Amino acid sequence: MENNLFKTHNLGSITLSNRVVMAPMTRSRAINNLGNSLMADYYAQRSGAGLIISEGISPSPNGLGYARIPGLYSKEQVQSWKPITAAVHENGGRIFAQLMHTGRISHAHNLPEGARVVAPSSIRAQGQMWTDQQGLLDLPIPQALSYKELLATKSEFVQAAINAIEAGFDGIELHAANGYLLEQFLSPHSNQRTDEYGGNIENRTRFVLEVAKEVSIAIGGDKTAIRLSPYGVFNDMPHYPEIDATYTYLAEQLDTLGLAYLHLLDHGAEEAPHVPSQLKKSIRQEFSNTLLFTGGYNLSKAHQDLSAGVTDLIGFGKPFITNPDLVHRFQRSLPLNIKLDASTLYTPGEKGYTDYPVFAEESVSV
Ligand SMILES: Cc1cc2nc3c(=O)[nH]c(=O)nc-3n(C[C@H](O)[C@H](O)[C@H](O)COP(=O)(O)O)c2cc1C
Repeated sequence: MENNLFKTHNLGSITLSNRVVMAPMTRSRAINNLGNSLMADYYAQRSGAGLIISEGISPSPNGLGYARIPGLYSKEQVQSWKPITAAVHENGGRIFAQLMHTGRISHAHNLPEGARVVAPSSIRAQGQMWTDQQGLLDLPIPQALSYKELLATKSEFVQAAINAIEAGFDGIELHAANGYLLEQFLSPHSNQRTDEYGGNIENRTRFVLEVAKEVSIAIGGDKTAIRLSPYGVFNDMPHYPEIDATYTYLAEQLDTLGLAYLHLLDHGAEEAPHVPSQLKKSIRQEFSNTLLFTGGYNLSKAHQDLSAGVTDLIGFGKPFITNPDLVHRFQRSLPLNIKLDASTLYTPGEKGYTDYPVFAEESVSV
């Protein structure tokens, strides 16, 4: 089978050394919401990926819903990311910052003083949130963003994107998936606004499209990307009859912005239905630039989808946690380490973070 996975790929103005992408993964090692040298080691170890998408980084104090996640809205935060992006570049890698505003998936304990839990509408999501102070707590009722606050939130995304470029990132990915703020606008379950940002498809997609447009004007469409997860149910996102129409319209509109890529996450490997292949085809038809598909991939499925032209890039999440040298292992058909320690996914420190061995070390130690 022809091996497209290890070919280069032009993404906007940069060239990726291969088509294996490290999917964005929150790891909660960002003490005081800052980048640090441990995080630089972690990303440098994984820089064999054609592209790394960073963990979710908040564009706003209001978006820091989880404990120990990083931000990109203060000068100190921008500075703290510079050694991390430099470490990836020194190792020949590329890295986009994922801008993640958690919206209603949040808790006041995790937010800095003065920040608030906000959402399109004042509708609580089912579920709980970890806090370092009191353990798991019910998700709170969010405050609906006023029109003025909505404009301010949009500006925060734009400024964070500018900050990301200053911090040395090659671009940004807007996190409009997994039930966070941007997806909360897309769904009629979480968005029941009566202004022009709620109601029909055009209105529910308006905030996401405006953010994408303004960010792409600020830093360039070739440095701007977006992640979507239609049919995902994570973070209390029930289905609705207009899902296909919503995402087809979104893809059509996003296409006009000249974005670097559209990242489609299929939650089908987890507890959700697969994204129907017809919707994937419609998105492919509407969006003319690079497509990146993620969710439950292994090497043979990746080859299959690339060869069939379904997508241009393939994202891997959990395999990159346990195999820092994933691309090297793929290229040489080496076995993967599949033993993921779930207990250390979000705990501070290097255990379960930077101590997964590369293949050679593993063979020496046996
Ligand atoms: C520990 C962990 C943290 C994650 N954090 C994020 C995140 O910050 N942003 C995001 O868009 N997706 C996040 N995801 C989802 C992954 O990007 C990916 O889509 C998912 O793991 C499915 O891919 P896989 O089957 O290759 O693991 C996370 C997944 C894991 C396992």
